[in-house]
Amino acid sequence: MTDLRGRSFLTLLDYTPEEILYLLDLADKLKADKKQGITHDLLKGKNIVLLFEKTSTRTRCAFEVAGYDEGANVTFLSNSQMGKKESIEDTALVLGRFYDGIEFRGYAQDTVKMLVDKSGVPVWNGLTDDYHPTQVLADTMTIREHFGDIKGRKLVFAGDARNNMGNSLMIVSAKLGMHFTAFAPKELWPDEKLVDDMRKLAEETGGSVTLSDDISCVEGADAVYTDIWVSMGEEDQMDERIRLLKPYQVNKELMDRTGNPDAIFLHCLPSFHDANTEISKAVQEKYGFAEMEVTDEVFRSPNSLVFDEAENRLHSIKAVMCATLGNEPNKILD
Ligand code: CP
Ligand code: NVA
Repeated sequence: MTDLRGRSFLTLLDYTPEEILYLLDLADKLKADKKQGITHDLLKGKNIVLLFEKTSTRTRCAFEVAGYDEGANVTFLSNSQMGKKESIEDTALVLGRFYDGIEFRGYAQDTVKMLVDKSGVPVWNGLTDDYHPTQVLADTMTIREHFGDIKGRKLVFAGDARNNMGNSLMIVSAKLGMHFTAFAPKELWPDEKLVDDMRKLAEETGGSVTLSDDISCVEGADAVYTDIWVSMGEEDQMDERIRLLKPYQVNKELMDRTGNPDAIFLHCLPSFHDANTEISKAVQEKYGFAEMEVTDEVFRSPNSLVFDEAENRLHSIKAVMCATLGNEPNKILD
């Protein structure tokens, strides 16, 4: 049986298809057990620190609740000395002496790499500019839960395809044999080298990677995915992103264009689908519309699984922590 104990989780590039499917199986089992009120103390006696440079609702809460459910002690740290008064290296050396596992959300992928190199304990990437691997575990868990399978499904990502979400969805699709299509303007296509590598991998797994700025590419989608147009740390690029991405909004016309009335809608959240946030209100005042990457109609439609997907963050993050740090995680699998 797969054994991931001691491993870090920085990007799905480091994980085989079998290892990813093992994490999804573990997440399904942990979810089913939790629904019946069963927990396992897989993280009993473990101390975990959650280090945040960027804001969060789901990721922070998922790591905390998952840790508590399985018996861990959790520290949330968003105002550390790291980077300001103390180097990342020194911070990692200190945290590695206190904690059994470290979650990091922030800007540079090099920071999570440094945490791995210097702390000596498993490190989990809770989002960097480049990747959001725990998110796409929840996404593929949701796809499999809904359709009963993953391989061969067509996933269309509409929007800013060169960021953490576009990269991570392309990677997980290639790993698991899905057909990944980025519907995006050329200016926001992912890094060419990553695309080439994922195309080669997809050839082996039976999947594919397509980039297109023509809406016909959404035809046949099983799942349509989008993300906010301006990611954390890029707030000064709002004007340019609105100009580039307005034609790529997920709306009823785009969903109809899939030709598949059963196509599901997914979003990592948070989402600007109405005027009920400070930012979307400001956008409405300046540009005259508040619905950005997705319309309220699609967001609230029966095809939208965004809150199942959000819940699955908890179970899939629990699976990652239990698999890499847990006391005998495989004892709960048949
Ligand atoms: N999807 C996601 O990562 O949400 P948070 O930013 O709220 O953690
Ligand atoms: N691309 C988004 C994802 C948020 C979960 C961001 O980085 O802000």
